[in-house]
Amino acid sequence: MRSVIPDYLTEALAEVAPDVSGQLAGYIPELAAADPGRLGVVFATLDGKIYGAGDVDAEFTIQSISKPFAYALALADRGFDPVLAKIGVEPSGEAFNEISLESGSGRPLNPMINAGALTAHSLAGSREWDPAGRVERVIDGLSAFAGRQLSIDERVYASEMEHAHRNLAIAHMLRSYDVLTEDPQAVVDGYTRQCSVLVTVRDLAMMAATLANRGVNPVSGEQVVGERVVRQVLSVMATCGMYDSAGDWATQVGIPAKSGVSGGLIGALPGQIGIATLSARLDAHGNSVRGVTLFERFSSDMGLHVMEVPPSARAVVRSNHVVGGGPHAVRVFQLQGGIRFAGAERIVREVLDTAPPEVAVALDLTMVYSIDDVARRMLLEVARRLTVDHHEVFLIDPEALVPDPEPGDGGRVTVVEDLEQAVRSVTARSTGHEPAPGSPGDEGREVPREQP
Ligand code: DON
Repeated sequence: MRSVIPDYLTEALAEVAPDVSGQLAGYIPELAAADPGRLGVVFATLDGKIYGAGDVDAEFTIQSISKPFAYALALADRGFDPVLAKIGVEPSGEAFNEISLESGSGRPLNPMINAGALTAHSLAGSREWDPAGRVERVIDGLSAFAGRQLSIDERVYASEMEHAHRNLAIAHMLRSYDVLTEDPQAVVDGYTRQCSVLVTVRDLAMMAATLANRGVNPVSGEQVVGERVVRQVLSVMATCGMYDSAGDWATQVGIPAKSGVSGGLIGALPGQIGIATLSARLDAHGNSVRGVTLFERFSSDMGLHVMEVPPSARAVVRSNHVVGGGPHAVRVFQLQGGIRFAGAERIVREVLDTAPPEVAVALDLTMVYSIDDVARRMLLEVARRLTVDHHEVFLIDPEALVPDPEPGDGGRVTVVEDLEQAVRSVTARSTGHEPAPGSPGDEGREVPREQP
């Protein structure tokens, strides 16, 4: 059987193909000569599967899509404070190449407009490096996001440099405010090389998937930048990635995104997927016309909007029942799904409302697939309070989702593989056949448990 996804993508391309509205980027002669007929899309999953249709392997220059990645490298290389001191995170509502800075400080408003991107480029790598070393760092960094070595299209670079007056004006203005502290010409040169890196739609989808995958390239497994950097970059993409159409994009599509004037467009949906499209004709904001239409369709067809409200956390308590009777009774809270703060709150409330009369209480994680840090701490606090209230607490955790179940402060949990072990342990204790800890008949392990 064929996968349904490539067929869906082919159909989506066929639907937008007749739209020839928009213009090629005229201000860079090499881009004005691009083939406007090229059309491609790739979905990259977080375990490295690629689904594509159309021109997925045609090379074109990355242009502004390099901006979020260069910003990520600057944050990773220099740290947050020095970068935030020089580049803001406020949407500008202006065109990408607006000659404007924050009044007073002279800071660029955000790293997605050219003023911020020039500054971000200047902050990549170590402070001591020369412009050539910095360009190398940026190309290697972009390559790590893509999972293959990328290179520069020298013709596009040269073509843009001949007409880079606007970026030079912005760079000189940044220099006058000491936001740039070096030769503005060298920064524009490096930034233009960064924009001239050749990529394919497949590369861009993988780069987006790396952002969606907490900074880990799904194929190479390399942690390219840290999770905190990724959160920052995705936030700025969500608010500023589409320039003066960022609000429309946020409401219609709702995927952190970035566009480029050669017609590329990426979207990174955290925890789900990286998407990239190519179609060279641009709208008045400098965003790919057919790319925007495709993203609108993907978002609506597949519910990819980040603000789409997930199913209610109520379902985390699958059942609340008692197994066995009399002194052998075990109260079981069977939990399920992914547990975060709201889910953990439901569990706390369920345990509180139940006020279990049984001595033995089991928190059953068998059907839980993930539990985040705050939920883990809340669950252990529930266990601690139950112990203090004279309960014997079992954590049924066959997958070791709580690897270090130490409730602290008078709390105690016994970790078991399944409910049967908990029941056997309770029965053995109440009939006076309690096995010695560590003996072959010992049912379960008391904390602390060894890390898996
Ligand atoms: O700075 C420039 O003009 C280009 N090299 C990059 C601009 C760009 O891709 C804007 N995006 N839509």
